[in-house]
Amino acid sequence: MPKTLLAPSILSCDLLRLEAQVAAVERAGADWLHVDIMDGHFVPALSFGPKLVETLRRLTSLPLDVHLMVEDPDRWVEPFIAAGAGGVSFHLEACRHPRRLLRHIRSLGARAGLALNPATPADSLRYLTPELDLVVVMSVDPGFAAQPFLPETLPKLSAVRAGLDAAAGARTACLVEVDGGVGPANAKALVAAGASVLVAGNSIFGQTDPGAALVALRQAAR
Ligand code: DX5
Ligand code: ZN
Repeated sequence: MPKTLLAPSILSCDLLRLEAQVAAVERAGADWLHVDIMDGHFVPALSFGPKLVETLRRLTSLPLDVHLMVEDPDRWVEPFIAAGAGGVSFHLEACRHPRRLLRHIRSLGARAGLALNPATPADSLRYLTPELDLVVVMSVDPGFAAQPFLPETLPKLSAVRAGLDAAAGARTACLVEVDGGVGPANAKALVAAGASVLVAGNSIFGQTDPGAALVALRQAAR
């Protein structure tokens, strides 16, 4: 079984201690850093811009996994890739021509990801599978850290994984990421249901020792 990737979410880190907290999770074995971009329209909150991605790029060599929760993703793909994002995911619910944007992300040399809100069916990926490097299955309604995990996500993860594996032309390497309410209590079940990347905000940076919390999540995911 391939290694499960762990992606601590910067949204929950203490920005006053950004450098130390990033170093702590990197030392503890984080695989990616997840960076949530919120525009106050697609989701109620505002978060970061490309400047933070540029700063993170200077602080760490970990791949930066940018999650765009924005109304107009077409406008933001290039600035975030220029700032150092290794992958960019945008929401299907926010994009009229997802195939075009997925291809554009790949053409810029980044991992192309598509995020699905909890109420968007797994089946909506059906005609897009060859374009996907990553699917982000939201397990909370996006917008805030530390929300409770929605249990209906478990069967949805399995359906997404099965759909990707069955689709002709789909990249077998396409990763399935789960985002929202992930922690040691549900990690094992999420991996068993088909998750290959676990995003974790509160369960890592919300803890007094983020490095130890990452190690605990790694053990729980086994
Ligand atoms: C939620 C964001 C998540 C968030 C997860 O809208 O997309 O990435 O940081 O935080 P936790 O792990 O605390 O639910
Ligand atoms: Zn996210």
